Amino acid sequence: MSVPEIFHGLVYQLNLEVDPGSNNYALSPARLGEGGEAQVFQASLADGRIVAVKQRRPEEHDGGLESTTTPRSLGGFVNEKNVLKRLEESAPKHLLKSLGYFDDLILLQLFKGKNVGDYIQNEPLTSESFLRLVHFFRQLTKALHELPASPHGDITWSNAMYDEENLVVLIDYSQVGITRSFKGTPLFMAREKIEGKKIDQKVDVFAMGVMLYWFLKRQHPYITDTHAATKNLFLELLRGDYRGGLDLRKFTDIFGSSDIHLFERLNTILKKATATDIEDEESEQFVEATSPTNLEKRYLTVELFVQELEDFFNLVKLGNMDLITSGQVQEEAVV
Ligand SMILES: Nc1ncnc2c1ncn2[C@@H]1O[C@H](COP(=O)(O)OP(=O)(O)O)[C@@H](O)[C@H]1O
Ligand SMILES: [Mg+2]
Repeated sequence: MSVPEIFHGLVYQLNLEVDPGSNNYALSPARLGEGGEAQVFQASLADGRIVAVKQRRPEEHDGGLESTTTPRSLGGFVNEKNVLKRLEESAPKHLLKSLGYFDDLILLQLFKGKNVGDYIQNEPLTSESFLRLVHFFRQLTKALHELPASPHGDITWSNAMYDEENLVVLIDYSQVGITRSFKGTPLFMAREKIEGKKIDQKVDVFAMGVMLYWFLKRQHPYITDTHAATKNLFLELLRGDYRGGLDLRKFTDIFGSSDIHLFERLNTILKKATATDIEDEESEQFVEATSPTNLEKRYLTVELFVQELEDFFNLVKLGNMDLITSGQVQEEAVV
């Protein structure tokens, strides 16, 4: 693909080789975000469109635990580009659309708001905010289905945006379909990933489990000090000391229900979603592992996890009943 004229200036601007003669672009000072391998900016193009631009960092700025051994050509940025190209053939509702590609740049549709994490991760725990989290998980499950490969490999609430209709859109495809990788966001990484084993969608289940645990307890299920150096985080996760379930009395207060047994169900879901042990689908243990009562093994699929969360929800009938129809949380709920 040849680089359209209007993008030339943008490329120069992002490389900080400003061409004063060009009026083809304007770069907002707002940087939308940054991660291990790339930065995201807002830019406006000559035709008036305002877009997001994801730029791979120059190699000399690579660093840290995540980029020590991977050759640049095999990095997440290239993978993300390939995934976005594959998506052009379909029009998935919950996935990101690219508007153009260059060596070190991907132009993306721009989302006006912040990422999902900014809206829900520190919300006080109420039945409404809990409902919003479940709604987010349900849409995330749909997004995962729309991906051309599995797992997503870097599920966090900061890798999801709300679009103008409040649909959840999954972003950041640098790890999509990669089945053996140490890359991702440390706090959300499943043990098998840290151990360098072959991974599948159960790593996405774990990441969602960490979000649920964080939302309900304001802690990581295994890591005591989330500010500690990355290496210590990994070591704690490998040791696998579960920090325990919920204080159920507190929950009956928050949700205005006296039936403590219902909330025990939530503890079960939490434990299974964040289990460090997994079972191979082909092994004899398969049937046992899918049983909701087997707390030691993680859910095999995101659906099993979200379905049980919704079943729990319907049993306690929490939150805004307008958002619940025929046993399910509505797709288009306003956030
Ligand atoms: N298209 C976009 N529109 C608006 N903000 C975005 C967009 N893409 C990313 N961001 C913001 O930038 C952050 C980092 O983007 P992401 O694609 O996750 O990059 P990284 O691979 O560096 O984590 C996101 O968490 C989000 O807040
Ligand atoms: Mg990201």
